[in-house]
Amino acid sequence: MCGIVGYTGDKNCVPVLMNGLTALAYRGYDSAGLAVWEGDSLTLRKAKGKIENLKNLLKESPMSGKSGIGHTRWATHGEPSDINAHPHTDTKKTLAIVHNGIIENYLKIKEMLISHGCVFASETDTEVVAQLLGYLYRGNPLEALKQAVSMLEGSFALAILFADDPKTIYCTCKDSPMVLGHGDNESIVASDIPALLEYTRDVCFMQDRQIAVLKQSGIEFYDEFGVSIQKTPTHIDWDVESAKKGNYEHFMMKEICEEPDTFRRTFEQYVSIKDYTLKSDRFPWNTARAKSFDRLTIVSCGTAYHAGMLGKKFIEHMANLRVDVEIASEFRYGDTMLKNGEPFLVISQSGETADTIAALRRAKELGCETMAVCNVTGSTISREAGSVLYTYAGPEIAVAATKSYLAQIIVLYLSALDLAQKRGEMSQEAVTARLKEMSRVPAAMQKILDNKEQIQFFASRSFAVKHVFFIGRGMDYALAMEAALKLKEISYIHSEAYAAGELKHGTIALIEDGSLVVALATQPQLQAKMASNMEEVRVRGAHVLTVTNGPWEGAKGHSHTQWEIEQMDDTLAPLCAIVPMQLLAYYLAVQKGCPVDQPRNLAKSVTVE
Ligand code: M6R
Repeated sequence: MCGIVGYTGDKNCVPVLMNGLTALAYRGYDSAGLAVWEGDSLTLRKAKGKIENLKNLLKESPMSGKSGIGHTRWATHGEPSDINAHPHTDTKKTLAIVHNGIIENYLKIKEMLISHGCVFASETDTEVVAQLLGYLYRGNPLEALKQAVSMLEGSFALAILFADDPKTIYCTCKDSPMVLGHGDNESIVASDIPALLEYTRDVCFMQDRQIAVLKQSGIEFYDEFGVSIQKTPTHIDWDVESAKKGNYEHFMMKEICEEPDTFRRTFEQYVSIKDYTLKSDRFPWNTARAKSFDRLTIVSCGTAYHAGMLGKKFIEHMANLRVDVEIASEFRYGDTMLKNGEPFLVISQSGETADTIAALRRAKELGCETMAVCNVTGSTISREAGSVLYTYAGPEIAVAATKSYLAQIIVLYLSALDLAQKRGEMSQEAVTARLKEMSRVPAAMQKILDNKEQIQFFASRSFAVKHVFFIGRGMDYALAMEAALKLKEISYIHSEAYAAGELKHGTIALIEDGSLVVALATQPQLQAKMASNMEEVRVRGAHVLTVTNGPWEGAKGHSHTQWEIEQMDDTLAPLCAIVPMQLLAYYLAVQKGCPVDQPRNLAKSVTVE
């Protein structure tokens, strides 16, 4: 979605803003722009398309100044164009504004402003906020902002530069993230952490309707009534380099290659390595509480939903606890059977996904005990959930989630073991044996990464494929869902995941000469059944690629290509088997010349409904 950056300080703000926008580009956008206080006037530069276009515009018509705001826009109201790009100003040019989110009552406000003589230049809801602020402004920016915010419905993060107070940036937000930091003689605001890392790692997250006033000397915070408040900064331990591409061609490949490290880092947060026991106090339930659960509800979106599906398999299998998993956008408006006090878990990499936040708030209203699996300290979900199981994936920049999915399924696997032990379903010895085995998974992953050319070669021969079906049973079916999403989102190849036994109830009609069927068959107890399903598609012309947990002789007659991961406990195999699936998606996308890190129409953090 859109990205915001604002700067005031002793540097020329233009390179700072451009670096910030580049750091936020991964969120997805289709135009970019800057507003800078230059000498004695507000100067704007805006360009449709990539940040490169804005850079070229700045080469032709340079500008400089000590305070400014910048934006990458992901079009919602009005097509991507120079005019609709942010920043927007009011007619009298008393201010410039950038906005993330959607103003739901913008038409009503627009009509009122038109009746008072305002003339609109763009089709955006953002210009309505600019004109509204200009209309309300009587020389006191804070007053105008307070009044405007009380009239806005929907979601917004706003950064504003007033011509009368050019060295100050005013910010506010509702249901859309904003993070601020004060560096050396400079203050900076952005919609996401990576834009701030070069300046400071001690940051403050804005809460709904709070107002921040950024000056070179520091940042003042106010509540929605204009009363001054203090905020304590959160320290972010991501380093600057971890949010950079380094020598990799794409962030996605860098992030896949980081998976063994992500595994170790996340594992060590929850497991005591000296004796392979769980750090049981890291989990948000004690023994009595774990025993009292009848059901756990998991709610999330996209990849995080797929992590929930696999988590369900882990928890039901190991802890003998029923788990219901629901998509957040369905849960938030659907009927619910949830009762007061029931455990409710959301999963989110960003911690800012609008539907997941709404689901969490609904569960809180229902009196549930809320928990979150989350990657971003200080994010809305991490602040609002009753307790947080952090993932330690570090910053994930590619739109396609890879290492964050891995970290989520590791945390869910460890939660399943912890619940199993506390509920008396597994002994301490059995848990320790499993954790020892688990500690060997990163090395098995590394082997796959070291031999990734095998997958690249396969992709080079298969990139013209039109349809790919991922099939599996049990845990492999949950894994297949994520494998199919990964492929479709970055390569635009049509792909679907099916429970292998379900194919013949309809979908097998789509199998034809040249279809690719990826059979995930890591569960030995289900391999005989998988063999029949593989044969059904093979005889109908599909090319069958099978992924197995160690050698499986039985696959030979039924599949054309076989990839083996190192043999391991069945329950652990999905943690490793996701790596070749992510690599397959990556290489097919690269072969097709797709923009791997920023696929069309997608945004990293989906902060609108
Ligand atoms: O930040 P979240 O985990 O809440 O995001 C949820 C989904 O938007 C996200 O997983 C999305 O499906 C990714 N593009 C998948 O690669």
